[in-house]
Amino acid sequence: MEESESPNPNGYIRYSDDIEVKQPNEDEDSRAVVESMARVNKIMFERYRHAIRDAHAKNHGILRGELEVYDNLPEHLAQGLFKQPKKYPVIIRFSTAPGMIEPDKKSSQRGMAIKIIGVEGEKFLPEEKNELTQDFLLVNYPIIPTGTVKDYLDQQKKIEDYINTPDLFQTVQGAMLVAGRKIKNLLGQEEEPNNFSTPGSHILGDRYFSMAAIRYGDYVAKISIGPKSENVAALHGKDMDEQLQKDEPESFLTTIVKNFFKDQTAVYELSAQLCKDLKKMPVEDGSVQWMEEDSPYQPIASLTILPQDTFSPQRRVYGDDVLSYNPFHCLPAHRPLGNIMRVRRLAYETSSKYRHHMNAAPRVEPRSIDELPD
Ligand code: HEM
Repeated sequence: MEESESPNPNGYIRYSDDIEVKQPNEDEDSRAVVESMARVNKIMFERYRHAIRDAHAKNHGILRGELEVYDNLPEHLAQGLFKQPKKYPVIIRFSTAPGMIEPDKKSSQRGMAIKIIGVEGEKFLPEEKNELTQDFLLVNYPIIPTGTVKDYLDQQKKIEDYINTPDLFQTVQGAMLVAGRKIKNLLGQEEEPNNFSTPGSHILGDRYFSMAAIRYGDYVAKISIGPKSENVAALHGKDMDEQLQKDEPESFLTTIVKNFFKDQTAVYELSAQLCKDLKKMPVEDGSVQWMEEDSPYQPIASLTILPQDTFSPQRRVYGDDVLSYNPFHCLPAHRPLGNIMRVRRLAYETSSKYRHHMNAAPRVEPRSIDELPD
C-alpha cells in the first residue's frame, strides 16, 4: 500500500492486511528452517539429556515485574494493550541467544522476554484465544541481520553444519551479525555491531528491541525497552564486573542479575517506533534499521522490577521448563508482521512442544502472577 493512499495527520502508516507480502519460496524455506532447528535441538537434547530451547536456551534470571501503561497517551500510541492506563504483572526472562548452554564469557546477543499477565480480550492464536497473556520478545540489537527467511535459512544451515565444532559456530554467528548493516545508535551516530571477542555490554544497561515489526492497533511498529531509573541507566554501554567474569566465567551474567536485584529496584521504559514509510521502514526485511530521525521511539509504559531472588531453583525450572514465550502469544492488535516473523509461528511451537514433551513438563500459560514461584 502506498503511503499516499492512507493519509493521516501524523504521517503514520495505517495497518492493513496487504502490508504483509508473501515472499517467493517462503513456505519451503520456512519449513526448512524449522526442520533444521529441530534436528539441532535433538542433538542438544542428547548433549544434556534435557530438552532446551532451540534458541535463547540459557536464562540469566526469571524476574517478576510490573508494567504500567502511561496515562494520556496520544491516539497513535493508545492502541491495543496500550489503549487504557493500567498496571499488569509481568514475568521477564533474560537469556543468551544460542540454542545451547555456553559460557557467558563468549559474546552473544542477549534476550529479554516479557510475558504480560491479565490481558483481557481474545488472543491471536485460535487455540489460545482464552489465554490472558501478551508476550514481547526483545534482543539487545535494533535489527535482525538475517532479516528474511531466506537469509535466516542460510545462517541456520551453517549452524547445523558447524554444530559439532562450537568454536566455528561462534565464528559463524559473529560473521552473520557483522555481515548486517551498520546500526545507528540513539544519538544518530554510526556504530559497528558488537565486538564478538568480548561478552558485550552490561546485560541490565542494554536496550532491547523487537528487531522486526508488529501490528500496533491501527498502525505498525517496532517495540523497544531501555533503562529509565538512574541505577540501570548508569550501566548503559558499561563493561560487566571484570572480577566476577574471572571468578565465574561460566555464568557471571546470571550472578550479575542476581546480585543487582538483591537490594535494588530497576525501572525500564517501553517505547514504540511507528512506521511512516514502508520503503524506508519495511516490514518484509528485518535487517533494515528504522531510523530514529524518520520516526523516533515514543514512550508508552514503564516496567518496574523490585528486589527479589532472580535465580532460585524453583524460578529457574519454572522459567526454563514450564514457561514458553512466543511472539504469537498476543492480541490480534499486536500480531507479528513480515516473513521473518511469520516463520516464528511454527518455529516456537515446534521448539516448545518438543521441550515440554521430552522433559515431561506441563505446557501452561500462567493466568495469574501467583503461579510464579519465589
Ligand atoms: C525477529 C526477531 C527475533 C527476536 C527479537 C527473537 C527473540 C527471542 C527471545 C528473546 C527468545 C527467548 C524467549 C524466552 O526467554 O523463552 C527467543 C526464543 C526463540 N526464538 Fe527467537 N527471536 C527472533 C527471531 C527468531 C526467528 C526468525 C526464529 C526462527 C525462525 C526464532 C526462533 C526462536 C525459538 C525456536 C526460540 C525458543 C522457543 C521456545 O522453545 O520456547 N527467533 N527468541
